[in-house]
Amino acid sequence: MVEVTLKCPAKVNLFLQVGRKREDGYHGILTIFQTIDLYDELILRPGVSTSFFKSDTGLAWNSSNTLYKAFKAVEKHLGKELALEMELKKKIPTGGGLGGGSSDAAALLRYLGETFHIEREAIFEIACSIGSDVPFFLRGGTAIGTGRGEVLTFPGDLKGYSVDLCFPGIEVSTPLAYALLGRSSDRQELSNKEVEKLLSAFRERDLVLIGKLSKNDFEEPVFAKFPVIERAYNKLREKRKAIVTRMTGSGSTLFSLFEGMDGEYNFVTSTDG
Ligand code: C5P
Repeated sequence: MVEVTLKCPAKVNLFLQVGRKREDGYHGILTIFQTIDLYDELILRPGVSTSFFKSDTGLAWNSSNTLYKAFKAVEKHLGKELALEMELKKKIPTGGGLGGGSSDAAALLRYLGETFHIEREAIFEIACSIGSDVPFFLRGGTAIGTGRGEVLTFPGDLKGYSVDLCFPGIEVSTPLAYALLGRSSDRQELSNKEVEKLLSAFRERDLVLIGKLSKNDFEEPVFAKFPVIERAYNKLREKRKAIVTRMTGSGSTLFSLFEGMDGEYNFVTSTDG
């Protein structure tokens, strides 16, 4: 039996702007995703007689688990049951905006796609059906995400930055965070200009401009609803002078950005880019 260990990286959003609610119920977004070297580990043991899942956090094997969704969707696509032992070692906090569940699912989809020679388009469709961030994790690195996060362009991976993370200990549900944003019609049009400027600032190491342009539309409403996150944000800012301190995704994890390897977790490049 050949055992395979997949590393599933976390992500931060270096920029996150939310537009209007669409007819399908999702909001249009404009974001910069960036993978970092904090990993969940997914250990796979093929060649067993039946499938089996275990996790060090006691994660259930049902439709609340992104790995279950990915596995079942691939079985459906192939029209047969698969036999695979899966063991998840979780390092990325759940419900923290770091994309752990999405990254785990994407790693499994990549593996199953390669093993069973499934077309990239089919894997991409399955990824979209699991969650808005899953398509990004099929590749990782640095990506601009639009649509609901699944329309991706890859401007070239950013290198030479790192982050410190602070998980305030509470989970923020993504639908709740979107609901806190207020009236959809008040939201601005999304324009790529700021994102392009921010990416140039990263490349040119213009740290002041990075600090000015980086943003996350969820911070204000999420901080207002959960003062414990705002307190953690203020503490993190006081702790060390960073280029900028932000919340990632819809929260609750906060990150401080540093040049070079001054932070605990480094930016990592894409798997095949
Ligand atoms: O796709 P994901 O599972 O992350 O989405 C969870 C929920 O977050 C959606 O059902 C929707 O309520 C909200 N969402 C949204 N717009 C997005 C992404 C998520 O409104 N772009």
